[in-house]
Amino acid sequence: MKRLEGKSTLITGSARGIGRAFAQAYIHEGATVAIADINLQQAQATAAELGPNAYAVEMDVTDQTSIDSAIADVVAKVGKLDILINNAALFDLAPITEISRDSYERLFSINVAGTLFTLQAAARQMISQGHGGKIINMASQAGRRGEALVAVYCATKAAVISLTQSAGLNLIKHGINVNAIAPGVVDGEHWDGVDALFAKHENRPLGEKKKLVGEEVPFGRMATAADLVGMAIFLASAESDYIVAQTYNVDGGNWLS
Ligand SMILES: NC(=O)c1ccc[n+]([C@@H]2O[C@H](COP(=O)([O-])OP(=O)(O)OC[C@H]3O[C@@H](n4cnc5c(N)ncnc54)[C@H](O)[C@@H]3O)[C@@H](O)[C@H]2O)c1
Repeated sequence: MKRLEGKSTLITGSARGIGRAFAQAYIHEGATVAIADINLQQAQATAAELGPNAYAVEMDVTDQTSIDSAIADVVAKVGKLDILINNAALFDLAPITEISRDSYERLFSINVAGTLFTLQAAARQMISQGHGGKIINMASQAGRRGEALVAVYCATKAAVISLTQSAGLNLIKHGINVNAIAPGVVDGEHWDGVDALFAKHENRPLGEKKKLVGEEVPFGRMATAADLVGMAIFLASAESDYIVAQTYNVDGGNWLS
């Protein structure tokens, strides 16, 4: 028995990386998935690769009109929305004395406002349908504590954990579970960019930071996106109906809470 049979899902930022892996796993479990991304071309390529139960939707989570039209596209195509994963996010890195207002505003606009207002639009749709739903926010170990060079990204992910708590408490009366996943370090294009930023700011050769963070994980290596899909399926399935407003670490033992 497939665990997400017939579930209509929207995953933001799923043209690549972790979101793409979630989309693939959800389709395998019987769901249909909107590959919703600011990069429409890559979303279309991903949807084509994932088969007939995936379709591309152009979506910029910083733009309310775009959020509303992405949800409307899902409803027009599948007739309902059952599951949202707020996955789109941006990373940046700078010492406190060099953080720019532009970087701060971009990160908060995508990672925090994008999460809140996509969650809000999805919740309104789910409430109108009358049979609950599942919302999963992508937090991070970065949201559990600050990091010397990563102040803004860490603050956005702490905000995602907090929003998960408030939204989880507010929406459970409608049968909507809001929970979050806090990954540690996940290998992929995102971390290649992070590694390049650390190389610049810590004066390291390319690849060194990535090697170090992998060695520091108690499990013994960085995660791959595939390591996260079990939790993402669980939090979208009926097995997690009694779980409300939680953030789960899936990080190989990096953070204990
Ligand atoms: N990779 C890691 O090590 C790691 C660790 C902890 C948490 N996370 C979190 O997991 C999630 C996915 O990370 P990833 O590594 O797959 O990232 P990624 O950078 O590989 O993918 C992000 C996707 O979001 C899309 N996107 C960017 N801005 C957007 C916008 N305004 N609207 C819609 N889409 C937009 C991009 O086009 C891209 O496809 C993020 O929330 C990230 O913060 C990642």
